[in-house]
Amino acid sequence: MKLKAFLLFFLLSSFSLLQAADKPLIKIETERTSLIYQVADNGRLYQKYLGKKLNHDSDIQYLPQGTEAYLTHGMEDYFEPAIHIRHNDNNSSLLLKYVDHSSNAIGNGVNETVITLKDDKYPVTVKLHYVAYGKENIIRTFTEISHEEKKPVILCKYASSMLHLNSSKYFLTEFSGDWAHEANVTERELAFGKKVIDTKLGARANMFVSPFFQLALDNPSQENAGEVLVGTIGWTGNFRFTFEVDNKNELRIISGINPYDSEYSLPAREVFRTPDFYFTYSTQGKGEASRNFHDWARNHQVKNGNDTRMTLLNNWESTYFDFDENKLIGLMDEATKLGVDMFLLDDGWFANKYPRSSDHQGLGDWEETADKLPNGVGRLVEEAQKKGIKFGIWIEPEMVNPKSELYEKHKDWVIHLPNRDEYYFRNQMVLDLSNPKVQDHVFGVVDNLMTKYPGIAFFKWDCNSPITNIYSVYLKDKQSHLYVDYVRGLYKVLDRIKAKYPNLPMMLCAGGGGRSDYEALKYFTEFWPSDNTDPIERLFIQWGYSQIFPSKTLCAHVTTWNRGTSIKFRTDVAMMCKLGFDIKLEDMNQNEHLYCDQAVKNYNRLKPVILEGDLYRLVSPYGSNHTSSMFVGKDKKTAAVFAFDIHPRYAEKTLPVRLQGLNADKKYRVKEINMMPGSGSSLKGNNQVFSGEYLMNVGLDLFTTQQLNSRLIEITEE
Ligand code: DGJ
Repeated sequence: MKLKAFLLFFLLSSFSLLQAADKPLIKIETERTSLIYQVADNGRLYQKYLGKKLNHDSDIQYLPQGTEAYLTHGMEDYFEPAIHIRHNDNNSSLLLKYVDHSSNAIGNGVNETVITLKDDKYPVTVKLHYVAYGKENIIRTFTEISHEEKKPVILCKYASSMLHLNSSKYFLTEFSGDWAHEANVTERELAFGKKVIDTKLGARANMFVSPFFQLALDNPSQENAGEVLVGTIGWTGNFRFTFEVDNKNELRIISGINPYDSEYSLPAREVFRTPDFYFTYSTQGKGEASRNFHDWARNHQVKNGNDTRMTLLNNWESTYFDFDENKLIGLMDEATKLGVDMFLLDDGWFANKYPRSSDHQGLGDWEETADKLPNGVGRLVEEAQKKGIKFGIWIEPEMVNPKSELYEKHKDWVIHLPNRDEYYFRNQMVLDLSNPKVQDHVFGVVDNLMTKYPGIAFFKWDCNSPITNIYSVYLKDKQSHLYVDYVRGLYKVLDRIKAKYPNLPMMLCAGGGGRSDYEALKYFTEFWPSDNTDPIERLFIQWGYSQIFPSKTLCAHVTTWNRGTSIKFRTDVAMMCKLGFDIKLEDMNQNEHLYCDQAVKNYNRLKPVILEGDLYRLVSPYGSNHTSSMFVGKDKKTAAVFAFDIHPRYAEKTLPVRLQGLNADKKYRVKEINMMPGSGSSLKGNNQVFSGEYLMNVGLDLFTTQQLNSRLIEITEE
């Protein structure tokens, strides 16, 4: 009897062991977040948990099963699927069962988990990848799809990631707008059904909407409290985020390439790798989420992310297309006097048959215009070197004006409809980067310039047109690959450039912030958030982009937009990002000159704090007459606090601004800097010493009732 009982016990326990082995639990963890999956009895993978890190493994058994991780089309779920495939027999159902998973430490606190799923009827494999950056609290996810059917299968939908959340309410913040009006912050509550954020613009893909979002749980998002998931897709083309609240008030977030007009035919044994989706989960509001992204971007993603950045003088707004060699050399002298690191030559230096005297012609013909630059770019590089500054140059290599030699020679390289009139955006068209010959041409634009003039120290890579007239001569019967293959072609070119010129800094521009994603930033050191440099508008635009991108990636130039603001106000705004000037310096009076010279010096001193430090957004410009943000050095010894009075009301009561991120027990000296020469500081407590505790709990009277006043305060540990 005893033996029987023992045998029964043995059988039962080995059965449950077998069960456990068959139903693996997969934990993806950073220092502060857990994402937990488990295989259920039916062999399918379920997301059990996403949120603040769970430290007690014994609790995990109590978690509910959750929702299937990567939902497929054609089975029993009635909402938007992550994947939709058409098999060779025209059946488009997919049922994914767990096969195995692996987890590998990549080093530096980074861990990659790969979960392999397979259909049990069709030879289709889906691998879900999760790369967890422990310290920075970021998870990067992507998906690989492959198959062994006889003929290609058709991928109709192919998400990078699907995440599930279960809360009482969901508040979505999106960042949309237009040219010169980028990244406006709008928050709304989600109700049953779908909210889609997407773009179909192809090349200048983010002109209307940025590829990132914030999703606050239970309550509207806050800067320093509350749970918020912040996500972004690394794809320099059409993307789509779908937020769907289902019948149980659960939220599904699907992120990936926009499947719009992009059915992809995948041959057997080839792997379709989706772009990366990156997210962070913060329990301390949007501020912490931003700092997570900023740290991660600098440490792991952005080209030369931990290097400093160059200040510059750009000639675009002071000359537009109207310049010659002498004028440019004169501007270089001004750059030297100003003390910036580099002179950046913008659009208008190239083409001879149709000289680039306006945006109507010449794009595509990348030789110097002889009557503007008789001694070529080489002379400019030499002059810059003599003056002790660097030389940078503008290109827009993916594009062509119909009035150009390139268009005349290689019409087949241009994305255009063979049987229709051409439609132009900014008088230009997009080259077909799905074609390897075009990739060679685009690579050649950079490579030829660098080979001829190795002294070129910087490129501004522009992209002013969305893809219009969508048709590729090269792709023939695979037209629905164009949006995807365009971006892949672009990456092939950028890979070659990065491999050959690994330390060449490059600015990404797309008529402003028309391209602003983290995959592009693997190849670019920075980007141009907007052509709108009115400092008031910039306060809003920079506020929007700062949610996800670190200051060193955001170029901000002092220009003549909004002359109603002082040069000090404009410079203080630009100093919150990567500082540059694009202004006729000769129009400034002596005081303004002196101010700018001093500001550049202050900026150089504060670069480690502004570019590498932690950002704390203190007062939002949205719904306020003022705004303030501060950067704190990683060692907490120095901080730079920016404060702006935009449109204060008459006799308005202003409250002190409480600082953040300092060491409560340390003593700090507070000093207003960047003042116009001859004007003293009216800041209460200027040049006094306070504890971090005081500064963070009582604060400083940074705001005034003066219209368009600005302040920069340097805080230094005593
Ligand atoms: C659009 C960019 O945003 C501007 O900064 C400037 O480079 C022009 N293109 C040049 O055409």
